[in-house]
Amino acid sequence: MSTDAIVMLKNDHKEILRAFRDFEAAGDAAVKTKGKLVDKIVELLTVHTYIENEVMYPRVRELVPDLEDDVLESYEEHHVADVLVMELVAMKPDDERFTAKTTVLIENVRHHIEEEEDEWFPQVREALGRKTLQEIGAEMAEARKKAPRKPSQPGALKKTIDAVIA
Ligand SMILES: [Fe+2]
Ligand SMILES: [Fe+2]
Repeated sequence: MSTDAIVMLKNDHKEILRAFRDFEAAGDAAVKTKGKLVDKIVELLTVHTYIENEVMYPRVRELVPDLEDDVLESYEEHHVADVLVMELVAMKPDDERFTAKTTVLIENVRHHIEEEEDEWFPQVREALGRKTLQEIGAEMAEARKKAPRKPSQPGALKKTIDAVIA
């Protein structure tokens, strides 16, 4: 598997978008099925956000100062997704707001992924080049091993905020 950071993150995005489509295709499927699909979405997002917050975003901030504003905006988008994810995890799939909340989460994350892939990842590639992106990718592969699978850690949100203001 490639350790190129951007290739790795884009592969994650593909998997996340696939899980979104599965949820949408489920339509009025059984509550149990939708609950399982949301569990999958939560896991994928938790791991992906973790490796971006811990490795990709801080490295980009440090190495490509021109993208500072984009990185800060992305942290805020992660924060919004984190809040929705935490609310979803605390909710039962038969709650009348469960599908609505999942739909809003999906809309937000789709927008966020588009911004990453179309607006600033290409600039990161240009600024950093292959070797540095492979080093960052290797670091993310390590971080992935210890990434949380669900937002159970009470400090997760605080950590995101601390990372932004550090
Ligand atoms: Fe992100
Ligand atoms: Fe991402």
